[in-house]
Parts: sequence; C-alpha cells; structure tokens
Amino acid sequence: MEPLVDSYGRHIKSLRISVTDKCNFRCTYCMPAEGLPWLKKDQILSYEEIVRFTRVAVNMGIEQIRLTGGEPLVRRDLPDLVRQLGEIPGLRSLSLTTNGILLKQQAGALAAAGLTRINVSLDSLIPEKFAEMTRRDQLAAVLEGLAELERYPSIHPIKINAVAMRGFTEEEVLPFAELARQKAYSVRWIEFMPLDADQIWRKEDILSGAEIKAIIEEAYGPLQQIPLDHPAETARRYTFSDGIGEVGFINPVSEPFCSSCDRIRLTADGQLRTCLFATEETDIRSVLRSGVDDEALTQTIRQAVWHKELKHYIGDKSFKRANRSMSMIGG
Ligand code: GTP
Ligand code: 5AD
Ligand code: SF4
Repeated sequence: MEPLVDSYGRHIKSLRISVTDKCNFRCTYCMPAEGLPWLKKDQILSYEEIVRFTRVAVNMGIEQIRLTGGEPLVRRDLPDLVRQLGEIPGLRSLSLTTNGILLKQQAGALAAAGLTRINVSLDSLIPEKFAEMTRRDQLAAVLEGLAELERYPSIHPIKINAVAMRGFTEEEVLPFAELARQKAYSVRWIEFMPLDADQIWRKEDILSGAEIKAIIEEAYGPLQQIPLDHPAETARRYTFSDGIGEVGFINPVSEPFCSSCDRIRLTADGQLRTCLFATEETDIRSVLRSGVDDEALTQTIRQAVWHKELKHYIGDKSFKRANRSMSMIGG
C-alpha cells in the first residue's frame, strides 16, 4: 500500500484515539469547573467502530496507537478495547495517557490486556496546589496509582506529564526533578497551549522548557541529552549525571515540532483531526455508519491526511483557536 503521507511530505505513523470526552478532573487549563456538555452514547464510537478504523489505519502505515480522553479510564471495559487493538497485526506500540486516579484499580487489568506504555499527567506534588489545578483533592490517589503501575514491569517506561505554568510550576521544578533522579520515571514538562475551554491562556503564562531546564541545571549541573527515540518525538529528554530516571521538555510553543509531526487524532465522537489545532475535521463516524467498505474508508483517511495542517501558528497574527478544548481532543 502507498505510504500515508501529507502534502508537505510528512509520513503519518501515530494515531491518538480519544475514547471518551468525560473526565473525573476539571483541570483549569483544560475544562470549566462545571464540566462541558457531554456527548450522548450514540454519538460516541463503539469499540467495534474504533477497532475497524484502527485496523484500516494500521494497514495504511499507522504504527503507534495512544488512547486518550477526557480521562480514558472512565470508559467502561477499556481493557477489552486494549486487548482487541493489541491483536491488530502491524501495530508496534499501544499506549495510554491518563490522569492516574483510577490506575490503582485498573493498572493490573491494563497490563494483562497488553498495554505496554502509560503516561500519567501530574502537575503538582503539593496537595493544595494539585487540588487548585485539577479542582479535585486527589493527589494521594494519583500517587497510589503510580505506585501500583510500578508493579507491572511490562508497562515501561512510565512517563509523567506536568503542564508548566508561570507562577505555579517554578517552585516544583526541583521536587519533580528529584523524583526523576530517584525513580525510573521520565518526567516531562509541557508548555501551556491555548486549548483550554475557559480561554484563560495568555502568552505570559507560559513557562518555557528552557527556563525549567535552567532551574534544574543550576541545582544539579549540566544535563546530558538523550538521542530522540524517533524523529517525531515530542520531548527533548535528558539524564542527570547521577540519577535513575530522566527529565524531558515538550516545547510546542517555544520550539515547535510541527515539521516532524507524524500524528493524527480521532475524537470520541469519530471526527478525524489532522492537527491538535485543527479548525476542520473529517466525519469518520458518518463514513463508518454509512456501510461503506474498507477501501472507501481508506480513501477518506488518505484525503484527510493529505490536507494536514502545516503548523499551529501559536503566536502568529493568523492563529485561530481550535474548535474544541483539550478534553475533547485528548492531547
Ligand atoms: P510519547 O510517545 O510517550 O512521547 O507520547 P506523547 O508525548 O506523544 O504523548 P502524551 O499524551 O504524553 O503527550 C504529551 C503532550 O504533548 C500532549 O498532551 C500535548 O500537550 C503535547 N503534544 C503531543 N502531540 C502534540 C502535537 O502534535 N502538537 C502539539 N502542539 N503538542 C502535542
Ligand atoms: N496545554 C498543554 N498541555 C495540556 N494538557 C491538557 N491541556 C493542556 C494545555 N492547555 C495536557 C495534560 C495531559 C495531556 C493529555 O495534555 O496535562 O498530560
Ligand atoms: Fe481531564 Fe486531562 Fe483535561 Fe485534566 S487535562 S481535565 S485530566 S482531560
């Protein structure tokens, strides 16, 4: 089959699938306190529909699948989906991004179902600040979830994502860095992006990866850069001279990585997005439910990918906010 490629020559290899728009947190940089109007059940793709789409996409060259939300672990029987996706021939990596609160209950079932990588969002190690950011007083549950995850060595590496915000994150850079020195975690800071439902994002709120790195190097000395895992990796990662884990910086605003982007996204309601910041989507749900064959579905995907956006334009005059907030897209 012809490679899955866009009009700028980028090969698309990664598919992020949001399995639900619902979440049990209300992070200020993502969702309003009262939540959002949730999708109705019949608007959401069934596991059967997700698996069919994924099988076709993998046949076209997709190698990596990441399950996202909202919070993916609130979708019922997620391990069933993991098992079914894991059986698709040709898939190289099957991973999940979660807020961690349900991991204590579900890590074992996910590992048994064949999930091999999990990224956990964790923005603060101080209970009051964690509660302020997520609007839920649940730091202890997330830490218990991480501890549970460590019991399953087949899930590796464990990555921690912290959204970095000026005036919030600075005092926690070193405690997080210390966590990465003591444990085999990859702790990564993500620059705050204009994807929040409340539209509180301001350029001034960004704490750049370079600033965070400087704080770490002042305390621990020079970090050593790790080569990229693959050309489309989002993070620039570093080890300490004397630590077990690593730190990483996802800098979409200060150092955009759009030119090497290999990602597309499927929302919980079956819309294909070719950029995190897309303002248009392709209605895969209608195509799936219209009874067409795999060849027609393949053509729809190929067409959509061909029109993948060049870049996100954050900071440019022409920047337009995406038509959905992060919780609807899955990060
Ligand atoms: P790994 O394969 O484990 O490195 O995962 P990842 O970094 O692709 O996935 P994860 O869900 O942990 O993503 C971390 C964050 O990076 C996302 O939530 C986004 O904030 C950001 N990110 C991921 N992909 C993109 C992208 O295509 N564009 C932009 N601007 N940001 C992205
Ligand atoms: N900017 C940057 N990252 C964000 N995330 C959610 N909203 C934003 C935002 N506005 C991150 C979460 C999680 C991932 C899915 O996306 O913290 O790690
Ligand atoms: Fe939920 Fe993730 Fe959004 Fe936070 S960032 S509200 S955990 S979807």
